[in-house]
Parts: sequence; structure tokens; C-alpha cells
Amino acid sequence: MIIPSSQPCNPITSGFAPNRTAVTVAAALAAEEIVCDALQGCKAGCSRHPLRVQEHGWTEVANLTNMAMMTPDERRTPTDAAAAAPPTDAAIAGGQAVGAYRPTIGKDFINERHRGYSVYPTRDGVAIDHPVFGWLRRGDALKLYEMAYFSPGDILDLGTHKGLSSTVMAEAVFDAGSGASIVTLEINEEYSGVARRAHRERRLTNIDYRVGDAAKHLDTFVGEGRKFGFAFVDHSHRYGPTKEACIRLGKLLMPGGFVLFHDYADPRNADPGNDEYDVVRAVRDHLPPSFRFAAMSGCCALYEFTGDGSG
Ligand SMILES: C[S@@+](CC[C@H](N)C(=O)[O-])C[C@H]1O[C@@H](n2cnc3c(N)ncnc32)[C@H](O)[C@@H]1O
Repeated sequence: MIIPSSQPCNPITSGFAPNRTAVTVAAALAAEEIVCDALQGCKAGCSRHPLRVQEHGWTEVANLTNMAMMTPDERRTPTDAAAAAPPTDAAIAGGQAVGAYRPTIGKDFINERHRGYSVYPTRDGVAIDHPVFGWLRRGDALKLYEMAYFSPGDILDLGTHKGLSSTVMAEAVFDAGSGASIVTLEINEEYSGVARRAHRERRLTNIDYRVGDAAKHLDTFVGEGRKFGFAFVDHSHRYGPTKEACIRLGKLLMPGGFVLFHDYADPRNADPGNDEYDVVRAVRDHLPPSFRFAAMSGCCALYEFTGDGSG
């Protein structure tokens, strides 16, 4: 343990795992697609900031592993606070809404696996070339990993497909040691089976597979009073199914939880002739005001739930 016991107001007595949180600042600065102007951090180790201690040429970053310890404003990085407005229609139409990754919780990469997504090889200059097939950008995977790592409860994954988003999140949960489950919803039974096999090969066991329409499963969870710490919405990008998710999320998320909408920055959302992509309009029309825009990352939009969970 490298944190001096005399450190002032150190809140990280139980959750800190030094080996999981070691990153080099040099590597962070060299990484592509990363805008992190908050790397200096707070050396005082107060409750507001990750604590950094130089040792053996490494910078150890003690992230706060329990979001509940911080108020929403304490959790938000200064860079997020400055950029806390969703992109305009013009930016989306022009393809300028794709966001560089910035941490929302803490100020750095969480560990080497997380940092690895910042330099992950891409298939076509866009999607990461992961052994589990999917369409995640680096910025998408980085934010998914971060949100899953710090999730205070189980996680909802809308749209399993072949299992990429659930792989990224299941690995984050495993690395965090939080014990959270990923509940992944897929309408197509065959895809759900493909994902199951991919996860089995990777020995990922913390995943609960549900087959059927996402809205139907969400209603079941609402009926059970079940709450989640984080939700990734990436099933259909049409208006109707995105609306169905938005109107239920206020009853499903824990206070302080987050929801990440995939393909929010896709310019096809701005094309009135393309009804396959209508994420932006559905979110604007139906996500309750208790959700506050937090950040763009890759092609995703992140919203924080500030309500009490009653809807
Ligand atoms: C874009 S893919 C999901 C990709 C996945 N999140 C990943 O990163 O690998 C969308 C998936 O959602 C499924 N889907 C479409 N509509 C759905 C619905 N109403 N309920 C549940 N799943 C749905 C599709 O069959 C498809 O496999």
C-alpha cells in the first residue's frame, strides 16, 4: 500500500486496489483520441480528487471506487462541466459531434486494460478490431469500460448482438471486483447464443442473457422494482424503441446512475429521410428532465440520472 496512512481526508480506505489502478501519465499523454487536460490532479488526496503518489517512476492513481461517496458535481471533471451541453443538430449533421474520450469519474485511465482501448487497432479507422465483432469506437469502449467499472449496481445492456459491449463491460466489472451483473437484452435468439459462446470462451460469467423485446423486459424489471447503476442503449436506433427505453429509465436507474446512448452522434440522425436513425429526437422528446447531459464520447451521449428513481 503506497498511500501514507497520515494522508489528510483520504476516503479510500476500503475500495482501493493499487495494482488495478496503475497507469503511466506519459502513456496517457501519448495515447490517441484522448483529450485529458486534467492530468495534474490534486496531490493533497482530499475527498474530491484522485490521489496520486509518485513511486518507482509510476504515478499511482487512487480512483474513488464508490460513486456514492461523491456529489454529482464532485464526480464531474472540470472538462466535462465546461462541455456539458449536448451537440447541436448542425454539429451532428456535419459529423462534428463525435467526442474525444474524457474521464467522467476520476481523472485518468483506470488501469492498463482501460488505457489499451485508447490505442486499440481499428478495422476501418473507426470501429475497434476486437475478436468479439461489433461497432464500437475507441471512445465508446473507453466510456463503457469506465461506466461499468464504477457502476454502483447491476448494468443493463440493450442490444446484445454478438456480445462486444457486454464483453467490455463484463471485463470492467471483473477488474473492479464489484460483483455486478450485466443483464443483456436481445430480440434475436441466435445472436444471444453467439454472444454466450464468445463470453464462455473468454470465461466471462457475470452476464445474464434475456431474449425478447427490450421494452418487455424493462417492464418486468420495473414491476420487480429492480434498479441498475448503468444502462447502455444500443438496440434499435429508431424513434419508437429508443422512446420506449427513455420513458422507462427513470424507474430503472439508481440515483446517480448513468445511461449511454450509442450512435447519438451519427449524422444519419439528422437526415429526415432516414427513419433507421432517430436516437437524438427520441432522447430529446422522451428522456425525462431528471437526466442531465454529461458528455459525448466516441459516437455516444452520456446522461446522468439526478432523480430519485421513482420515475
Ligand atoms: C447495434 S446491435 C448491438 C451491438 C452491441 N451493443 C455490441 O456492442 O456488440 C443491435 C442489436 O439489438 C437487437 N435489437 C433490435 N431491436 C431490439 C429490441 N426491440 N429489443 C431487443 N433487442 C433488439 C438487434 O437484433 C441487434 O442484435
